[in-house]
Amino acid sequence: MTTPLRARAAHAYIESHRKEFLDELFQLLSIPSVSSDSKEKGSVESCARFVRDRLADAGLKAEVFPTGGHPVVYGERLAGAGRPTILVYGHYDVQPPEPLALWRHGPFRPTLEGSDIIARGASDDKGQVYALVCGLEAVFRTGGGKGVNVKVLIEGEEEVGSPSLVPFIRKEHARLKADHVVIADTSQFAKGVPAITYGLRGLVYLEVIVRGPKKDLHSGSYGGAVMNPANALARIIAACQGPFGKVAIPEFYDRVRPLEDWEREEYLKLPFSEEGFRDETGSPRLFGEEGYSTLERKSGRPTFDVNGLVSGFTGEGAKTVLPSEARAKFSMRLVADQKPDEIARLAKDYMREIAPEGVTLEFIDHHGAEPVLVSREGPAVKAAVAAMARAFGREPVFMREGGSIPVVVDFKKELGAESVLIGLGLPDDNLHSPNEKFCVDDFYRGMAVMAEFLEELE
Ligand code: BES
Ligand code: MN
Ligand code: MN
Repeated sequence: MTTPLRARAAHAYIESHRKEFLDELFQLLSIPSVSSDSKEKGSVESCARFVRDRLADAGLKAEVFPTGGHPVVYGERLAGAGRPTILVYGHYDVQPPEPLALWRHGPFRPTLEGSDIIARGASDDKGQVYALVCGLEAVFRTGGGKGVNVKVLIEGEEEVGSPSLVPFIRKEHARLKADHVVIADTSQFAKGVPAITYGLRGLVYLEVIVRGPKKDLHSGSYGGAVMNPANALARIIAACQGPFGKVAIPEFYDRVRPLEDWEREEYLKLPFSEEGFRDETGSPRLFGEEGYSTLERKSGRPTFDVNGLVSGFTGEGAKTVLPSEARAKFSMRLVADQKPDEIARLAKDYMREIAPEGVTLEFIDHHGAEPVLVSREGPAVKAAVAAMARAFGREPVFMREGGSIPVVVDFKKELGAESVLIGLGLPDDNLHSPNEKFCVDDFYRGMAVMAEFLEELE
């Protein structure tokens, strides 16, 4: 450790409670709080109650708030007017666990494999947000944290785009008001290279249904005489991709803020290995927008990607048939200053325009998020840098992430608060994928970060 830890009593508390904290995380990870699955509504609700009880144990006054969707858990421990106020944000909901057969232990049977905790939500976000909660507990239970107002907001709908959270923030504006938001829902740059994320991409997620004949047709009797919706969809998707890895939707790039020279220089300094990244993906060759590095492509530039594609006969063997419809789900990752509503409209208009005659298009809007760049300055960022340097034994780098956290923009708009994104996970944690993992050492390190952060702010 280059700099000695300051919050000594809190660190001793963490040391002596390692087993309890891990047991509690395992209990949290055992609850299948899949927000997109209506069959898991009960699990999501019991997960909210579990989180509330843990916040109460940590020394916060905590409540479960119903919303139009899944409940929000909120807790606070106030120091008084005139003191700095932080709002710790995270989510207790998780992505669906499918495909189940690929999990080594079952998604909701948390297991320690060497130093990795394996379970759905281990890193995204139960493990990360719970590390912060345990850090708060350690500080509070050892008599610290008296000079900072601490608020904690843990929601159950992040993975479905946080639809109920903005109304909640508006309604509870006074209660939630804070100077800084603290979030652990991103990752380190690489193992042992801690990172503060200052940029998140936005998102537009659409589904298109292409319809043709009123029923499936024999491909011999009818093939060649009607427009096949699967062929039409393939043409539409192909037309959205231009040469040189560009998106071909007209006006798509109009509002894109170019990467500045200083930023591109910073990207170059990050300890990134193209080959290591290729191995991580298993893709035989990396691909992307010409003129940009892999790191820039995956965090600083916008994209168009099919996420799901179905049509026609997919069973065993061959069946000669023209499908009556074809569907695709696709995402567009956005960067500042693209606007999700505008990009959705441009994509739909273009697809309608280029659709061959003989099919109709219907669109379903799934979730979205605005891109965001947060300030790299101010007391909370300084405190986070110092806290991470102490807990990790090395100063964090600043980086952009390719993923989205929809509510970060709303914290800025509704509460006027910037977020500090402290990454505790690792880039290869298998988020949204089978065998999601979180390194147990980083779980404890996250507690130390929180303890140091509070000490630093006081
Ligand atoms: N924690 C992630 C965001 C993230 C992903 C940060 C990768 C850093 C690296 C978050 O839970 C998430 O998955 N967000 C969704 C947003 C969507 C469901 C609205 C995403 O990015 O797909
Ligand atoms: Mn997350
Ligand atoms: Mn996620």
